[in-house]
Amino acid sequence: MRKPAILITGANGEMGHGLITALHARNNVSIVALDLNPLDKALSGLVYEELIGNILDQSLIEQLNGEYEFDAIYHLAALLSTRAEFSPRAAHDVNVGGTLSLLNLAVEQGRSRGVPVKFFFPSSIAVYGFSGLDAKNKAGAIPEDSHRNPSTMYGCNKLYCEHLGHYYMHYFQRLGADNNRCFIDFRSIRFPGIISSKTIPSAGTSDYIPEMLHAAAKGEPYQCFVREDTQIPFMTMPDAIFAITSIMSAPAEDLSRTVYNIRSFAPSAEVFRQRVLEYFPQADIGYHITEKRQKMVDSWPLDTDDSKAREDWRWKPVHGLDNGLKDYLVPELKEMYKD
Ligand code: SER
Repeated sequence: MRKPAILITGANGEMGHGLITALHARNNVSIVALDLNPLDKALSGLVYEELIGNILDQSLIEQLNGEYEFDAIYHLAALLSTRAEFSPRAAHDVNVGGTLSLLNLAVEQGRSRGVPVKFFFPSSIAVYGFSGLDAKNKAGAIPEDSHRNPSTMYGCNKLYCEHLGHYYMHYFQRLGADNNRCFIDFRSIRFPGIISSKTIPSAGTSDYIPEMLHAAAKGEPYQCFVREDTQIPFMTMPDAIFAITSIMSAPAEDLSRTVYNIRSFAPSAEVFRQRVLEYFPQADIGYHITEKRQKMVDSWPLDTDDSKAREDWRWKPVHGLDNGLKDYLVPELKEMYKD
């Protein structure tokens, strides 16, 4: 018999850390963790099986299909936006090819089990695209179905995979004999930039905010790579994890869409810098703008409208900028870097 489990890909990434801890605490469920790199020691005890491997390895996916019955798949593995601009072909392979492979696994599992497999896909504000600052500033906080003109590889990959997920859920093999059956229950969130106290992101383009904060807490100088008036939305990692568990446990009939915006606060780089200085007055934070990365952030929205998530699955962040810094980020960072 195949063993019931849930699958998390990209398990050792920033989001995987928080998600494994949360799912372990909440559910009586066996977690299968897949990542290119070995899982952090702190997480190993929380998972049923730890697999080191590539989501593009088809024999590994087939092995998973043979050994497990997945109730849910959390497909977190991806190449982030800065890395994807240096290696667009590899980004497409991983971000699109990998997602397609996991969607096919979910369909196989849903078909053989007779119930749709829940599939979580983290999307991003990078699916939006503005031609320049004027258009961005004029649009303000934007809803899900507007301005989807990505100009980054990562954004193109994420937008296409949102559509693929929607297709797999509603229209998969629509001309076949099984055309009325639904094999997957696809749920996706477009995340803003995320700030974690535990990990520093790498290879993303929203990284200037978490990098600024971590550098200040470590007592290291930092040069912010975007202008001081640069603005996009952000949230804390605990709220991001809370959002994933909330949307995944929402009754299907409450969800009016497959993809939702969420956001918590949207400070400019300079507003955030000032807040960091309140907690770390000695911090040495300057600006050294990288024009090419600046253009990427300028193509992303000032803010997003998350009213659909608030209506449908009662999304509400715990942390704003003030209590996110005061109650979560600053105390945990001070503890982590105290030596
Ligand atoms: N935070 C991501 C990145 O910067 C965008 O969603 O790549």
